[in-house]
Amino acid sequence: MKEELLAKIESLRQDATKALASFQNLKELQEFRVHLLGKKGQLTEVLKGLSGLTPEDRPLVGQAANQVKQDIEARLVVLQKTLEAKDKESLFSAQSIDITLPGLDTGRGFRHPLSLVNEEIETFFLNLGFSVYEGPDVESDYYNFEALNFPADHPAREMQDTFYIGGNAAPSPSPLLLRTHTSPVQIRTMKNQKPPIYMICPGAVYRHDDDVTHSPMFHQVEGLMVDTHIRFSHLKGILTLFCQTMFGKERKVRFRPSFFPFVEPGAEVDISCGLCNGKGCRICGGDGWLEILGAGMVHPHVLEEVKIDPKKYTGFAFGLGVERIAMLKYGIDDIRLFYQSDLRFLEQF
Ligand code: DAH
Repeated sequence: MKEELLAKIESLRQDATKALASFQNLKELQEFRVHLLGKKGQLTEVLKGLSGLTPEDRPLVGQAANQVKQDIEARLVVLQKTLEAKDKESLFSAQSIDITLPGLDTGRGFRHPLSLVNEEIETFFLNLGFSVYEGPDVESDYYNFEALNFPADHPAREMQDTFYIGGNAAPSPSPLLLRTHTSPVQIRTMKNQKPPIYMICPGAVYRHDDDVTHSPMFHQVEGLMVDTHIRFSHLKGILTLFCQTMFGKERKVRFRPSFFPFVEPGAEVDISCGLCNGKGCRICGGDGWLEILGAGMVHPHVLEEVKIDPKKYTGFAFGLGVERIAMLKYGIDDIRLFYQSDLRFLEQF
């Protein structure tokens, strides 16, 4: 019995020595540890067998078994550390960062062409000392037409296919509509403050219109300058400078008489066509000029309506379409491209 156990202990020691030399990873080591020293491990079984020995033999065999156990445990600890270090090393080399690789592209966004043009317009007028105002998209008939000298049955209203949205503005019984132009902000501004007024107002406007050059929603920028001694020459000088800043110094600017109820005299402003230099081509419809904006001297009726004395103050106003300017500037032939959110179009600006 005693010899049997001692032989078993010796063979376990030899097996362990062989096994320890062959482990490639921690998993193998753990399995071996359980197999030999676990609750049901081979060496543990040997120790359990001690109870069947005589009291004289027991210490001798017990000592031999413990010796082997301690010896193997100590070697397992050393080997475990070595294997752990090896594991860590391979983990690092697999995940290490190559700083010579190009970084990941996070895909930066870009400005919408209408925002770019809006900003260019704002910058021009801010530099001249104008302020930027805003007004509501849902307007009353009073601000959109009546106060701007469009009487109820005036034919000029027909030019602006209006979306009436039902209901009236309180307290006056003025029908509600989607503003057809930014001109109502002139009235709102002049009712709120006294001259001098140098303002522009960018914003969305709405008309019942839909084709390649018209959209039911589009954008305008309104301008208004009211002070003592404002003359047509101020209008002409500022708007000429504006057109040439937006489109290039070489462009010619033309002021053509036109009618808008809220200005007198009224004008439409054209720039010479950049493609044919005024000779006439497909883009300008053959006459060499491109219409850019409407303008004029603020009508005395309008000043009276907002309680500004037309004998003391004069002013000029203008209104332009942002989409139209962007289309001419960038050579875009379909207004719907602005609203389709197609990145192939938008990322070109
Ligand atoms: N509100 C006009 C329109 O949308 C444009 C316009 C013309 C505005 C003349 C003005 C102006 O301020 O003076 O058709």
